Amino acid sequence: MEATKLATSNLEREPYYSDDRGVTLYQADSLELLSQMESEQFDMIFADPPYFLSNDGVTCKSGKMVSVNKGRWDRSKGVEGNHAFNLQWLGECQRLLKPNGTIWVSGTFHVIYSLGFAMQTLGYKILNDIAWFKVNPPPNLSCRYFTHGTETIIWAAKDDDSRYTFNYKTMKEMNGNKQMKNLWNIMSPRKAEKKHGKHPTQKPIKLLDRIVLAASDEGDRILDPFCGSSTTGLAAIEHGRQYVGIDQSEEYLDLSIKRLQDLYEEK
Ligand SMILES: C[S@@+](CC[C@H](N)C(=O)[O-])C[C@H]1O[C@@H](n2cnc3c(N)ncnc32)[C@H](O)[C@@H]1O
Repeated sequence: MEATKLATSNLEREPYYSDDRGVTLYQADSLELLSQMESEQFDMIFADPPYFLSNDGVTCKSGKMVSVNKGRWDRSKGVEGNHAFNLQWLGECQRLLKPNGTIWVSGTFHVIYSLGFAMQTLGYKILNDIAWFKVNPPPNLSCRYFTHGTETIIWAAKDDDSRYTFNYKTMKEMNGNKQMKNLWNIMSPRKAEKKHGKHPTQKPIKLLDRIVLAASDEGDRILDPFCGSSTTGLAAIEHGRQYVGIDQSEEYLDLSIKRLQDLYEEK
C-alpha cells in the first residue's frame, strides 16, 4: 500500500511516509495544503477542526479547576471569521472526496452550527448527526449550565447523487444485532491511549474505529485534515485503510508518529 506523495514546496518539514502501511503525515496549514491536492482522491474524511472555544474560561480535570484553553490554534476568529474558515476547508474537502465518498465532522456547540450551515451551503448531503455521549464527562464548575456531556459528529455525503458506503450489517453486529442508533456511548480516551503524550482534544480510538468501519472498506484512502495525535490514523491502519493526516503542529505530529509506530510494532 503506497503512501500518498504530494509534490509541494511550502511544507514546514519533510512529510512522514510509511509506504508499507500506506501512511502519510504532513506538517502544514490545511487551508494551504488542501488547495494543492488532487481532486476526488479520498473515500472518507474525518475532520475534528478547531472548536474555537479557548476563551480563557475554566473547566474541571481530574477534580481540579484548569483553563479551557487548548492552544493558539483554538482561539476564536470571531463568528464570521470562524465561519469563513469552515467554509474554506469544507469546500476543499468536498473537492477532494471521491463522488461516493463521505465526510465526518465533529464539534461542540461553539462551532457545530457553523459547520452544519457551511456543509448545507456547499451542497453536501447530510446523512446523520451522531450524538457522542462521553458517559463520564467532567462536572460543570459554574453550576450555571447543564454538564456538557456530548459532542456532535455530522456525517455527510459529497452531494445528493452520492452512492456512499454504509456498512449497515457491521454496525448492526457491533450493536448486539440491533440497528445502531445515532446515540453513541463512548468513554473519553483512557490513560493507556495517552501513554505517548497528551493532545488536549484527543478522540477515543473506539469512536474512530466505529466511524472507519461504518463508512469505508479495506484499502480505502482516508484523510484527516486536523489530525492532532492521529487517532484516525490508528483506526485506519488497524482496519487496513490508507491514511493521510495533516496538522500544523510539530509536537502533535511527533506524537502521531509515536502512536503509529507503536501500533506497527503490535501488528
Ligand atoms: C480538535 S484537534 C484534533 C484532535 C484529533 N482528532 C486527535 O484525536 O488527536 C484539532 C487539531 O487541528 C490542528 N489545527 C488547527 N488549525 C489548523 C490548520 N489551519 N491547519 C492544520 N492543522 C490545524 C491543531 O494543531 C489540532 O491538533
